[in-house]
Amino acid sequence: MAHETFQTVEGQINWDAPMYKLYEKAKRQGNWNPADIDFSQDKEDFQKLKTEERMTALPLVAAFSAGEEAVTIDILPMMQAMARQGRLEDTMFLTTFVHDEVKHTEMFSRWQEAVGIGDMNLSVFHNDSYKRIFYEALPESMERLNTDDSPKAVIRAATVYNMIVEGVLAESGYYTFRQIFKKAGLLPGILKGIDYLNMDEGRHLQFGTYTIQRLVAGNEENFKIFHDYMDELWVHAYDFIEYLISLAEQQRQIITYDPVLEINSTILKEYALKQFNIRKSKIERARKFNNADELEKAAASVQE
Ligand SMILES: [Fe+2]
Ligand SMILES: [Fe+2]
Repeated sequence: MAHETFQTVEGQINWDAPMYKLYEKAKRQGNWNPADIDFSQDKEDFQKLKTEERMTALPLVAAFSAGEEAVTIDILPMMQAMARQGRLEDTMFLTTFVHDEVKHTEMFSRWQEAVGIGDMNLSVFHNDSYKRIFYEALPESMERLNTDDSPKAVIRAATVYNMIVEGVLAESGYYTFRQIFKKAGLLPGILKGIDYLNMDEGRHLQFGTYTIQRLVAGNEENFKIFHDYMDELWVHAYDFIEYLISLAEQQRQIITYDPVLEINSTILKEYALKQFNIRKSKIERARKFNNADELEKAAASVQE
Protein backbone atom coordinates (compact mmCIF):
# COMPACT_ATOMS: atom_id res chain seq x y z
CA MET A 1 0.00 0.00 0.00
CA ALA A 2 1.48 3.36 -1.06
CA HIS A 3 1.32 6.42 1.21
CA GLU A 4 -0.96 9.16 -0.04
CA THR A 5 -0.44 11.81 2.62
CA PHE A 6 1.56 12.47 5.75
CA GLN A 7 -0.21 14.03 8.71
CA THR A 8 2.89 15.87 10.00
CA VAL A 9 3.66 17.34 6.59
CA GLU A 10 0.16 18.53 5.77
CA GLY A 11 -0.48 19.58 9.35
CA GLN A 12 0.50 18.40 12.81
CA ILE A 13 0.12 15.69 15.33
CA ASN A 14 -3.25 16.15 17.02
CA TRP A 15 -1.91 17.23 20.42
CA ASP A 16 -5.41 17.06 21.94
CA ALA A 17 -6.16 13.50 20.82
CA PRO A 18 -6.84 11.28 23.87
CA MET A 19 -4.26 8.77 22.63
CA TYR A 20 -1.62 11.47 22.21
CA LYS A 21 -2.18 12.57 25.81
CA LEU A 22 -1.83 8.98 26.92
CA TYR A 23 1.44 8.74 25.00
CA GLU A 24 2.74 11.79 26.90
CA LYS A 25 1.68 10.20 30.17
CA ALA A 26 3.48 6.97 29.24
CA LYS A 27 6.72 8.83 28.55
CA ARG A 28 6.54 10.45 31.98
CA GLN A 29 5.40 7.48 34.07
CA GLY A 30 6.61 4.45 32.20
CA ASN A 31 10.36 4.77 32.59
CA TRP A 32 10.97 2.20 35.35
CA ASN A 33 13.46 -0.61 34.83
CA PRO A 34 12.70 -4.19 35.96
CA ALA A 35 16.45 -4.76 36.31
CA ASP A 36 16.55 -2.12 39.07
CA ILE A 37 14.15 -4.00 41.35
CA ASP A 38 15.91 -5.72 44.23
CA PHE A 39 14.60 -9.26 44.69
CA SER A 40 17.06 -10.30 47.43
CA GLN A 41 14.45 -10.08 50.22
CA ASP A 42 11.99 -12.01 48.04
CA LYS A 43 14.57 -14.78 47.68
CA GLU A 44 14.99 -14.97 51.44
CA ASP A 45 11.23 -14.84 52.11
CA PHE A 46 10.48 -17.45 49.48
CA GLN A 47 13.05 -19.89 50.80
CA LYS A 48 11.73 -19.51 54.35
CA LEU A 49 8.19 -20.44 53.33
CA LYS A 50 7.17 -24.06 53.82
CA THR A 51 6.81 -26.04 50.58
CA GLU A 52 3.00 -26.08 50.70
CA GLU A 53 2.90 -22.33 51.21
CA ARG A 54 5.35 -21.72 48.42
CA MET A 55 2.83 -23.50 46.22
CA THR A 56 0.33 -20.71 46.87
CA ALA A 57 2.39 -18.31 44.77
CA LEU A 58 3.03 -20.65 41.85
CA PRO A 59 -0.38 -20.73 40.09
CA LEU A 60 -0.51 -16.94 40.20
CA VAL A 61 3.01 -16.61 38.82
CA ALA A 62 2.18 -19.19 36.15
CA ALA A 63 -0.85 -17.13 35.12
CA PHE A 64 1.03 -13.83 35.09
CA SER A 65 4.19 -14.98 33.31
CA ALA A 66 2.33 -16.60 30.46
CA GLY A 67 -0.17 -13.75 30.39
CA GLU A 68 2.48 -11.04 30.05
CA GLU A 69 4.36 -13.07 27.45
CA ALA A 70 1.15 -13.65 25.49
CA VAL A 71 0.21 -9.97 25.41
CA THR A 72 3.78 -9.07 24.43
CA ILE A 73 3.77 -11.50 21.51
CA ASP A 74 0.21 -10.70 20.41
CA ILE A 75 0.03 -6.88 20.49
CA LEU A 76 1.66 -6.02 17.15
CA PRO A 77 -1.36 -6.60 14.86
CA MET A 78 -3.25 -3.94 16.87
CA MET A 79 -0.47 -1.44 16.24
CA GLN A 80 -0.39 -2.30 12.54
CA ALA A 81 -4.17 -1.99 12.29
CA MET A 82 -4.11 1.49 13.87
CA ALA A 83 -1.20 2.54 11.62
CA ARG A 84 -3.02 1.27 8.52
CA GLN A 85 -6.09 3.27 9.49
CA GLY A 86 -4.01 6.43 9.70
CA ARG A 87 -4.41 6.72 13.46
CA LEU A 88 -1.00 8.28 14.11
CA GLU A 89 -1.58 9.20 17.77
CA ASP A 90 -2.85 5.68 18.60
CA THR A 91 0.21 4.22 16.88
CA MET A 92 2.50 6.50 18.86
CA PHE A 93 0.90 5.46 22.13
CA LEU A 94 1.10 1.78 21.21
CA THR A 95 4.89 1.94 20.89
CA THR A 96 4.97 2.59 24.65
CA PHE A 97 2.41 -0.15 25.21
CA VAL A 98 4.63 -2.75 23.53
CA HIS A 99 7.61 -1.68 25.61
CA ASP A 100 5.55 -1.86 28.82
CA GLU A 101 4.49 -5.45 28.12
CA VAL A 102 8.06 -6.45 27.31
CA LYS A 103 9.15 -5.12 30.70
CA HIS A 104 6.32 -6.95 32.47
CA THR A 105 7.46 -10.21 30.91
CA GLU A 106 11.03 -9.45 31.94
CA MET A 107 9.98 -8.61 35.50
CA PHE A 108 8.30 -11.96 36.19
CA SER A 109 11.09 -13.92 34.57
CA ARG A 110 13.69 -12.10 36.68
CA TRP A 111 11.69 -12.76 39.82
CA GLN A 112 11.32 -16.47 39.06
CA GLU A 113 15.03 -16.72 38.54
CA ALA A 114 15.81 -14.73 41.69
CA VAL A 115 13.71 -16.93 43.99
CA GLY A 116 15.03 -20.13 42.45
CA ILE A 117 12.11 -21.37 40.36
CA GLY A 118 13.45 -20.22 37.00
CA ASP A 119 13.68 -23.73 35.57
CA MET A 120 10.39 -25.00 36.98
CA ASN A 121 7.70 -25.74 34.38
CA LEU A 122 4.57 -24.06 35.71
CA SER A 123 2.27 -24.76 32.76
CA VAL A 124 0.53 -27.47 34.78
CA PHE A 125 -1.38 -24.60 36.45
CA HIS A 126 -3.03 -23.52 33.18
CA ASN A 127 -6.46 -25.13 33.19
CA ASP A 128 -8.78 -25.37 30.16
CA SER A 129 -10.37 -21.97 30.81
CA TYR A 130 -7.00 -20.27 31.03
CA LYS A 131 -6.01 -21.96 27.78
CA ARG A 132 -9.25 -20.93 26.09
CA ILE A 133 -8.41 -17.27 26.76
CA PHE A 134 -4.62 -17.07 26.54
CA TYR A 135 -3.75 -19.88 24.14
CA GLU A 136 -6.72 -19.42 21.78
CA ALA A 137 -9.07 -16.40 21.99
CA LEU A 138 -6.31 -13.81 22.47
CA PRO A 139 -4.00 -14.82 19.60
CA GLU A 140 -6.96 -15.62 17.30
CA SER A 141 -8.61 -12.24 17.72
CA MET A 142 -5.32 -10.33 17.54
CA GLU A 143 -4.02 -12.20 14.48
CA ARG A 144 -7.30 -11.55 12.70
CA LEU A 145 -6.37 -7.84 12.65
CA ASN A 146 -3.62 -8.67 10.15
CA THR A 147 -6.24 -9.29 7.47
CA ASP A 148 -9.38 -7.70 8.89
CA ASP A 149 -9.41 -4.39 10.78
CA SER A 150 -13.18 -3.87 10.60
CA PRO A 151 -14.90 -2.38 13.68
CA LYS A 152 -16.09 -5.86 14.62
CA ALA A 153 -12.57 -7.30 14.54
CA VAL A 154 -11.08 -4.37 16.47
CA ILE A 155 -13.82 -4.57 19.11
CA ARG A 156 -13.30 -8.29 19.61
CA ALA A 157 -9.52 -7.90 19.86
CA ALA A 158 -9.74 -5.06 22.39
CA THR A 159 -12.43 -6.91 24.34
CA VAL A 160 -10.35 -10.01 24.95
CA TYR A 161 -7.01 -8.20 25.26
CA ASN A 162 -7.86 -5.02 27.16
CA MET A 163 -11.16 -5.74 28.88
CA ILE A 164 -10.86 -9.40 29.93
CA VAL A 165 -7.12 -10.12 30.11
CA GLU A 166 -6.02 -6.74 31.43
CA GLY A 167 -9.21 -5.35 32.92
CA VAL A 168 -10.53 -8.42 34.72
CA LEU A 169 -7.79 -11.03 35.09
CA ALA A 170 -4.69 -8.86 35.56
CA GLU A 171 -6.50 -6.45 37.88
CA SER A 172 -7.80 -9.35 39.97
CA GLY A 173 -4.30 -10.85 39.96
CA TYR A 174 -2.71 -7.69 41.40
CA TYR A 175 -5.39 -7.60 44.01
CA THR A 176 -4.71 -11.23 44.96
CA PHE A 177 -0.96 -10.70 45.13
CA ARG A 178 -1.45 -7.80 47.50
CA GLN A 179 -4.08 -9.65 49.54
CA ILE A 180 -1.74 -12.58 50.06
CA PHE A 181 1.75 -11.12 50.24
CA LYS A 182 1.34 -7.53 51.39
CA LYS A 183 -0.72 -8.67 54.36
CA ALA A 184 1.94 -11.24 55.25
CA GLY A 185 4.70 -8.63 54.84
CA LEU A 186 6.52 -10.80 52.30
CA LEU A 187 8.06 -10.45 48.83
CA PRO A 188 8.57 -6.65 48.71
CA GLY A 189 10.36 -6.81 45.36
CA ILE A 190 7.58 -8.36 43.35
CA LEU A 191 5.02 -6.17 45.12
CA LYS A 192 6.95 -3.13 43.95
CA GLY A 193 6.95 -4.57 40.45
CA ILE A 194 3.20 -5.13 40.70
CA ASP A 195 2.74 -1.44 41.57
CA TYR A 196 4.58 -0.44 38.39
CA LEU A 197 2.61 -2.95 36.33
CA ASN A 198 -0.64 -1.67 37.76
CA MET A 199 0.22 1.88 36.73
CA ASP A 200 1.16 0.78 33.19
CA GLU A 201 -1.97 -1.33 32.88
CA GLY A 202 -4.08 1.70 33.81
CA ARG A 203 -2.93 3.34 30.57
CA HIS A 204 -3.48 0.14 28.58
CA LEU A 205 -7.01 -0.06 29.89
CA GLN A 206 -7.64 3.54 28.83
CA PHE A 207 -6.51 2.63 25.32
CA GLY A 208 -8.83 -0.38 25.19
CA THR A 209 -11.77 1.47 26.69
CA TYR A 210 -11.41 4.39 24.32
CA THR A 211 -10.90 2.15 21.28
CA ILE A 212 -14.10 0.24 21.95
CA GLN A 213 -16.02 3.36 23.02
CA ARG A 214 -15.37 5.22 19.76
CA LEU A 215 -16.61 2.21 17.78
CA VAL A 216 -19.79 1.69 19.78
CA ALA A 217 -20.76 5.39 19.92
CA GLY A 218 -23.94 5.67 17.88
CA ASN A 219 -23.73 2.06 16.79
CA GLU A 220 -25.88 -0.44 18.68
CA GLU A 221 -24.79 -3.32 16.49
CA ASN A 222 -21.17 -2.77 17.51
CA PHE A 223 -22.20 -2.41 21.13
CA LYS A 224 -23.85 -5.81 20.95
CA ILE A 225 -20.66 -7.36 19.55
CA PHE A 226 -18.77 -6.04 22.57
CA HIS A 227 -21.43 -7.01 25.06
CA ASP A 228 -21.91 -10.57 23.81
CA TYR A 229 -18.20 -11.26 23.56
CA MET A 230 -17.67 -9.98 27.12
CA ASP A 231 -20.30 -12.40 28.40
CA GLU A 232 -18.83 -15.27 26.42
CA LEU A 233 -15.31 -14.67 27.78
CA TRP A 234 -16.45 -13.99 31.33
CA VAL A 235 -17.47 -17.65 31.73
CA HIS A 236 -13.85 -18.72 31.15
CA ALA A 237 -12.34 -15.89 33.19
CA TYR A 238 -14.52 -16.64 36.18
CA ASP A 239 -13.89 -20.36 35.89
CA PHE A 240 -10.15 -19.73 36.03
CA ILE A 241 -10.56 -17.60 39.15
CA GLU A 242 -12.62 -20.34 40.79
CA TYR A 243 -9.91 -22.82 39.84
CA LEU A 244 -7.22 -20.68 41.52
CA ILE A 245 -9.37 -20.49 44.62
CA SER A 246 -9.96 -24.25 44.65
CA LEU A 247 -6.19 -24.84 44.48
CA ALA A 248 -5.68 -22.53 47.45
CA GLU A 249 -8.42 -24.32 49.39
CA GLN A 250 -6.91 -27.73 48.67
CA GLN A 251 -3.60 -26.39 49.98
CA ARG A 252 -5.22 -25.29 53.19
CA GLN A 253 -6.68 -28.71 53.82
CA ILE A 254 -3.29 -30.41 53.77
CA ILE A 255 -1.68 -27.78 55.99
CA THR A 256 -1.65 -28.72 59.67
CA TYR A 257 0.03 -25.53 60.94
CA ASP A 258 -1.24 -21.94 61.00
CA PRO A 259 -0.71 -20.63 57.45
CA VAL A 260 1.25 -17.40 56.90
CA LEU A 261 -0.50 -16.84 53.59
CA GLU A 262 -4.26 -16.51 53.36
CA ILE A 263 -6.59 -16.00 50.45
CA ASN A 264 -10.14 -14.74 50.95
CA SER A 265 -12.10 -16.47 48.21
CA THR A 266 -15.35 -14.55 48.63
CA ILE A 267 -13.65 -11.17 48.38
CA LEU A 268 -11.62 -12.25 45.37
CA LYS A 269 -14.69 -13.47 43.46
CA GLU A 270 -16.53 -10.26 44.26
CA TYR A 271 -13.53 -8.21 43.17
CA ALA A 272 -13.35 -9.98 39.79
CA LEU A 273 -17.07 -9.51 39.20
CA LYS A 274 -16.78 -5.84 40.13
CA GLN A 275 -13.97 -5.35 37.58
CA PHE A 276 -16.08 -7.04 34.91
CA ASN A 277 -19.02 -4.75 35.62
CA ILE A 278 -16.82 -1.62 35.64
CA ARG A 279 -15.44 -2.50 32.18
CA LYS A 280 -18.94 -3.01 30.84
CA SER A 281 -20.36 0.17 32.30
CA LYS A 282 -17.49 2.30 30.96
CA ILE A 283 -18.24 1.10 27.44
CA GLU A 284 -21.96 1.56 27.99
CA ARG A 285 -21.34 5.26 28.67
CA ALA A 286 -20.32 5.73 25.03
CA ARG A 287 -23.85 4.83 23.90
CA LYS A 288 -25.09 8.28 24.83
CA PHE A 289 -22.93 9.86 22.09
CA ASN A 290 -24.21 9.89 18.52
CA ASN A 291 -20.83 9.30 16.95
CA ALA A 292 -17.10 9.00 17.61
CA ASP A 293 -16.49 12.73 17.00
CA GLU A 294 -18.83 13.73 19.82
CA LEU A 295 -17.15 11.23 22.11
CA GLU A 296 -13.68 12.43 21.08
CA LYS A 297 -14.57 16.03 21.85
CA ALA A 298 -15.93 15.07 25.28
CA ALA A 299 -12.87 12.90 26.01
CA ALA A 300 -10.44 15.66 24.96
CA SER A 301 -12.10 18.12 27.29
CA VAL A 302 -11.97 15.89 30.40
CA GLN A 303 -8.48 14.38 30.05
CA GLU A 304 -5.72 16.18 31.84
FE1 LIG B 1 1.29 -6.26 31.19
FE1 LIG C 1 -1.04 -4.44 29.49
